[in-house]
Amino acid sequence: MASTKLAAIALFLSCLVFLVSVSSAANSTAGLKVGFYRKSCPPAEAIVQKYVNKFVFRNPGFAAGLIRLHFHDCFVRGCDASVLLDGANSEKQSIPNRGSLRGFEIIDAAKAELEIRCPGIVSCADILAFAARDSSWRVGDIFYEVPAGRRDGNESNTLDPLLNLPPPFFNATQLRDNFARKGLTLDEMVTLSGAHSIGIAHCTSFNGRLYPTVDPTLDPNYAVFLRNICPAPVANATGPPSVNPTVNQDVITPKRLDNLYYELLKQKKGLLTSDQVLMTSTLTSKIVLKNAQNSPAWAKKFAAAMVKMGKIDVLTGTQGEIRENCRLVN
Ligand code: HEM
Ligand SMILES: *[C@@H]1O[C@H](CO)[C@@H](O)[C@H](O)[C@H]1NC(C)=O
Ligand SMILES: *[C@@H]1O[C@H](CO)[C@@H](O)[C@H](O)[C@H]1NC(C)=O
Ligand SMILES: *[C@@H]1O[C@H](CO)[C@@H](O)[C@H](O)[C@H]1NC(C)=O
Ligand SMILES: *[C@@H]1O[C@H](CO)[C@@H](O)[C@H](O)[C@H]1NC(C)=O
Repeated sequence: MASTKLAAIALFLSCLVFLVSVSSAANSTAGLKVGFYRKSCPPAEAIVQKYVNKFVFRNPGFAAGLIRLHFHDCFVRGCDASVLLDGANSEKQSIPNRGSLRGFEIIDAAKAELEIRCPGIVSCADILAFAARDSSWRVGDIFYEVPAGRRDGNESNTLDPLLNLPPPFFNATQLRDNFARKGLTLDEMVTLSGAHSIGIAHCTSFNGRLYPTVDPTLDPNYAVFLRNICPAPVANATGPPSVNPTVNQDVITPKRLDNLYYELLKQKKGLLTSDQVLMTSTLTSKIVLKNAQNSPAWAKKFAAAMVKMGKIDVLTGTQGEIRENCRLVN
């Protein structure tokens, strides 16, 4: 009796194991796990956090830089650290990235120490995922655990960011479709846009809303403020403008990752077209209102969406490699 019961349990367990392994084979995201380096490199996450804290303490803008770097990594060839590769034809040279990504030195510093403590173990893609999480915690008190085990890719092309990242002039349907292509929902798109409650944008990212005429969905006083900072584009200009100032994306709490971003959208003070359309479009306005109203609920959704974004098209197992230097393939 006892032995048939045991056999039944054993059969049940082996079926379970079988099902789990089948589903993980069919789903590369299942290859990631929280605490991936617990045995192979116990101090991995603490080392990353140490450098994030050090740099963000000096300049809170680095937190924005690291969160954006992770986004730009994951949307282009998956979260494989392709955004970190140097090179004349690399992602770094593309329009969405060139001159506006920041935080590379933090990844380099963490990687350098990790290569001394546990050589060849911790991927650059995981370092970036940890750093984005530590940044969210540091400037937003938003905490989540990062499933890890990503491996690094070996390709980076200048064209890829343009083909995959949403530009700041997209409308709500275009944003929805762009995120859907990466497996993210409409709610996740609106929720992750809350990252624009920190950091900066260059005038060229929103000048189209100021000149030649002011976008009617932009608060007129805010428009005057922005026009004072951003020069009118030169009509016959050929290259990039000689001056391209920056402004805070959130005019009230630019250094806090918080849901005030959504309140500002209600007041027509979203900086980018892609921000303000979330409020003007009926597709997304209800989500904006909910996120504006319930800070803990937004923070919780933000954390979950960051975890999900961190799983986009990841390399795991024996795919890819563990880079020695995050700027170069081995
Ligand atoms: C919804 C579509 C999105 C568009 C169109 C967009 C576009 C932009 C643009 C144009 C900038 C300013 C770049 C500059 O002029 O220097 C920016 C900044 C930023 N974005 Fe996004 N973004 C989007 C979604 C996201 C997501 C999902 C995240 C992260 C979860 C994110 C995080 C950031 C951060 C933190 C900054 C400030 C960076 C800094 O200060 O260094 N964005 N984004
Ligand atoms: C992959 O696995 C994750 C977590 O195990 C799950 O949330 C996701 O829906 C799965 N995706 C597919 C395409 O099966
Ligand atoms: C969004 O842009 C697309 C492409 O230009 C256009 O077809 C669509 O009608 C626009 N949607 C809205 C709601 O403006
Ligand atoms: C651009 O326009 C300005 C003012 O009209 C003029 O002085 C300048 O020569 C023009 N430059 C080119 C490259 O056409
Ligand atoms: C890049 O990685 C792919 C797949 O991981 C591999 O097939 C290819 O040989 C690698 N190329 C180089 C140049 O290392």
